[in-house]
Amino acid sequence: MKNKILVTGGAGYIGSHTCIALHEAGYGIVVYDNLSNSSREAINRVSMLIGQPIDFIEGDIRDAELLKKVFNAHHFYGVIHFAGLKAVGESVSKPLMYYNNNVNGTITLLEVMDEHNIKNLIFSSSATVYGDPEILPIDEKSPRSCTNPYGQSKLAVEYILEDIAVSDENWNLICLRYFNPVGAHPSGRIGEDPNDIPNNLMPYISQVAVGKLEKLSIFGHDYPTVDGTGVRDFIHVTDLAQGHVAALNYLKQQTDLQKFSSDRTNAIQKKSVGFLPINLGTGKGTSVLELVNTFSKETGKKIAYQFIDRRAGDIASCYGSADKAKTLLGWHAELSIADMCRDTWRWQSMNPDGYNAKN
Ligand code: NAD
Ligand code: UD1
Repeated sequence: MKNKILVTGGAGYIGSHTCIALHEAGYGIVVYDNLSNSSREAINRVSMLIGQPIDFIEGDIRDAELLKKVFNAHHFYGVIHFAGLKAVGESVSKPLMYYNNNVNGTITLLEVMDEHNIKNLIFSSSATVYGDPEILPIDEKSPRSCTNPYGQSKLAVEYILEDIAVSDENWNLICLRYFNPVGAHPSGRIGEDPNDIPNNLMPYISQVAVGKLEKLSIFGHDYPTVDGTGVRDFIHVTDLAQGHVAALNYLKQQTDLQKFSSDRTNAIQKKSVGFLPINLGTGKGTSVLELVNTFSKETGKKIAYQFIDRRAGDIASCYGSADKAKTLLGWHAELSIADMCRDTWRWQSMNPDGYNAKN
């Protein structure tokens, strides 16, 4: 029987790509999403791409009663938990909304999981928990600190997961810290669909390319970097999706071992995964200007830009060590910056208005 996974936030940008990768890897999926930052059309497109209907429940992770019904109706192996709000600026003006959604929502989910004795979880954390890193590339032992409510909500969930892992050795909790996800599915059918003017770099560039925005403002060109612009670890969303499959395969392997050892109590010491943080990045930094230039080269679109002041809260450079993911999960990112630009452009040019377009 296929292992069934509950995917919270599975209609969103990273979740929708991961649903396809999970299906291709032979996992069953049930998507649970309140569509606060996504649409049914994303679910329809994923169904089309995998060639079968998706088991989709429109619901909120803070709705314990609905979650219980879902856990009673299915036998899940575990949960991949993407559901959350992610706009840093909005989190500064609406901190309660962010803590309520991201922290309370996760607590409700964990309580229902605990009640149903489902203790395998993969959580979407972020490189933002490393704050302004002292040492690059950033490894998983680097100190954590955050300055905005979005980041604090991720950090708070990390602490909660650490505490429950200590309280009960049956929890297996992988915390994936993503660097900067960009790109889209190679079909051009699913991708990132920001609600308003994008805050993040790649969707901004692609909206300039398609003519929806006039020009990119580059925030600062006096950073101590290769060309003065900010440096980030951009990772293709389909590589990221494969990282989730690798993490799930690892969890499965570990929980199978645990089961085997508890069946033969004297043979091997039972050992849970506990709380396991893992970076998902490429290990390489790319500057804002390098990304802009690669996008132009790969798509033939000139991107108009101007330099303006630094954005408050931004750091000069951020890229992660990808060694732990490689050693433990056997996973590494394969796609290049050129692939990320081409695939972003395919999605943007085929869907200039995102999922709202009638196509
Ligand atoms: P997204 O907004 O596209 O997807 C999140 C999904 O969760 C959306 O479909 C939204 O409708 C749903 N959701 C939000 N609150 C919910 C709730 N209370 N109940 C049910 N569903 C809810 O974002 P994404 O880029 O796919 O990010 C997925 C996860 O990864 C988030 O937790 C985000 O914080 C984290 N993350 C994202 C990035 C990034 O740059 N995209 C980087 C690091 C971490
Ligand atoms: C942002 C979030 C971070 C989140 C990460 C991944 C902020 C302050 N931080 O990080 O919490 O984990 O996304 O989704 O929002 N840039 C421009 N012009 C633009 C947009 C961006 O020059 O219009 C520059 C930025 O200054 C930065 C780089 O591009 O140097 C990347 O920016 P962005 O895509 O917003 O990601 P992060 O700032 O790394």
